[in-house]
Amino acid sequence: MTSLFSIKYWKQLLPFGVMICATLPAFSMEKENPLIVIETKQTALVYRVDGDEVNCYYFGERMGDYQVFQSLALPAKGPLLGTSRGQNFNEAALRVTHHEGVLSTELKYLKHESMPVAEGVTQTIITLKDKVYDFSVEVRFEAYSNEDIISMSTKLKNQEPGPVLLYDYASGYLPLKAGKYFLTSFHGEWYSEMNMQEEELTRGIKILDSKHGTRSTHKLSPAFILGLDQPATENSGRLVAGTVAWSGNWSLVFEKQVNETLQCFGGINGYGSEWALSPGDSFETPQFLFTYSAQGKGLASRNFHRWARQYGLVNGETLRPTLLNNWEGTYFDFDEKKIEEIIKDGAGIGVEMFVLDDGWFGNKYPRNDDGAGLGDWEVNREKLPNGIDHLVKKTQAHGMKFGIWIEPEMVNPASELYEKYPGWILQEPTRDKYRQRNQYVLDMGQAEVQDFVFGVVDRLLSQHPGISYIKWDANSHFSNVGSTYLPQDKQGFVNIAYTQGLYRVLDRIRAKYPDVLMQVCASGGGRVDYGSLPYFHEFWTSDDTDALQRIFIQWGTSHFFPAIAMAAHVSATPGHLTKRVLPIKFRFDVAMTGRLGIELQPSQMSGEEKEFSKMALKTYKEIVRPVVQLGDLYRLVSPYEHNIASLMYVSPGRDRAILFAYHHHFRFGDMFDNIRLQGLDPSAQYRVRDINTLDPGKEKWSETSYSGEFLMNHGFSVISSWGNTDDPLAIGLFGEYTSEVVEIKRVE
Ligand code: GLA
Repeated sequence: MTSLFSIKYWKQLLPFGVMICATLPAFSMEKENPLIVIETKQTALVYRVDGDEVNCYYFGERMGDYQVFQSLALPAKGPLLGTSRGQNFNEAALRVTHHEGVLSTELKYLKHESMPVAEGVTQTIITLKDKVYDFSVEVRFEAYSNEDIISMSTKLKNQEPGPVLLYDYASGYLPLKAGKYFLTSFHGEWYSEMNMQEEELTRGIKILDSKHGTRSTHKLSPAFILGLDQPATENSGRLVAGTVAWSGNWSLVFEKQVNETLQCFGGINGYGSEWALSPGDSFETPQFLFTYSAQGKGLASRNFHRWARQYGLVNGETLRPTLLNNWEGTYFDFDEKKIEEIIKDGAGIGVEMFVLDDGWFGNKYPRNDDGAGLGDWEVNREKLPNGIDHLVKKTQAHGMKFGIWIEPEMVNPASELYEKYPGWILQEPTRDKYRQRNQYVLDMGQAEVQDFVFGVVDRLLSQHPGISYIKWDANSHFSNVGSTYLPQDKQGFVNIAYTQGLYRVLDRIRAKYPDVLMQVCASGGGRVDYGSLPYFHEFWTSDDTDALQRIFIQWGTSHFFPAIAMAAHVSATPGHLTKRVLPIKFRFDVAMTGRLGIELQPSQMSGEEKEFSKMALKTYKEIVRPVVQLGDLYRLVSPYEHNIASLMYVSPGRDRAILFAYHHHFRFGDMFDNIRLQGLDPSAQYRVRDINTLDPGKEKWSETSYSGEFLMNHGFSVISSWGNTDDPLAIGLFGEYTSEVVEIKRVE
């Protein structure tokens, strides 16, 4: 089986290939009970080899000395990996049937080694083998020192004389010990992604998972926060946060056990994915990434953000352009003239890129709605008689870049592609074929399909070198989980083969077109996962662009994903689905906390709205963008707890910060505590200035400067019902859907 792990993150570590050879001895005390310590700058995960077993003794803040774990007769929290075996009555992270039909797996320790694989990254591999069968498991850790992120994955090797059936094969396993456990998960659906919910775990099993195939993060995100002993708060308290880097079916299992320990593990979802690992084959599971924080959720998020920028996303430290996407402006109803006007108007307000969304292709089956044309990636000659290059030229003539939408993993039955290759779709020949959004899902496990999908992109980009950006969509989940390509006894592999096939295609695209910007989209935020990050620059956070809803969606998303990856667009008012009327400033102020874009028909904006948009885009590009896209996030006031919300970003050198505050639900007389800033240099002096105002030229600008210490301890007062908002230290949130953006700048 193909190595999943190697394809993805290792490509970013290759420059350090020389160091990979320099194997170092593990941090271990080779006495009776060797210790295996996996350390980052702030945290440590400590295992001890107890005879045949490897047990976890500690996960928490880094310490100076771990030898005590060798001598103390402390009870272990749990094993390195929970397998199905006699005396284990808990859910198993690894459950296989050996070639002779034996259902249990008893692993014994063989060896471990540790080595630096990149600057700041140490890999530790612990090798275990079944006591009887030639079935071995390498448990791999990568410790990302500066980001305080640890990744765990496994490599399963079958050297038995017959196939081994895999049922459950988690990537990572964490045994934890606290008095109470509070699980925060992120649930959603189309138009309402990443809603946060927290619950205290009771005895029993709690499973978060996806069985959707493609839109794998719409129902739940493969991410969790586990408050230890107390509910997770923003700035204090111990917690573990983690996620599975896999864009297919995944699962996260939490089981509070008899002895009050909690086992937590995650990886590919074994449900419906039982398959046989042939003799001589091995299988590598994707990364399970986690962090420990003794300072609440805020720190855990910043750890993940830094990791995503450094090791996850494509060019995660390069600023992203603003853009105008025509989807909500036109839907399918456009022609060349209309698009040209949108391009011109977009340039007029100062966006840097135009993206042509769905509806530009199909001739025999024109794509005039979502019922036809998917699969036929030829420009529609009626709508766009002069082709793509004509629009590229028009866009470039305005000094902008050009991007285009595709959905290459899908096909409408009404398409030339389906007429020609009905066997290319996922299907169970004896069952009815189900559709979502009138389309079928192509079987990405098939080599021919992979070549086709790669070809769609390759043709587009080679024939139209002016295309700088691709929005890659996937608007159907799996309905017919079966493949005509895989043999009968390997049907259980279909889910995995799909994601592997997808990654293979994306690898080819990234290798050939490293500079093309790519956005991952799956009916909005259906593929916002760490498995996608290595191929994309950003994701479409949600089809819901209503700024009020977005405050909540983006709040949830920000727990694991950095702003640079989070596409946030200003759309028309009233909102197309919510019907809510929102002021232009509020819409911009919300979208500015991510990668700002516009998603409307500019000709339908009023003159005032256009003027404001022009000013806001300029402000974003010049002042806000570098801080938001590359800075550290501090969530200050949660919209889940208050009728206002506030967050801020601080530049890496702490010389600039941008504060955002919103009044999302107005009740006259509501009183709010001061908004206290975070992340500033306490001894530095800062000036504050409200930006992106409705009254440009009359911004409040502090004549005096304030120390970071003062701004973090006293902060800004919130004036929401009455009071004087002229004071530079007052945030004026008079009335519903008001907002303020404040620049905080170090005095030289
Ligand atoms: C999905 C995407 C939208 C848009 C449409 C086009 O719903 O999330 O942004 O691209 O498809 O059909």
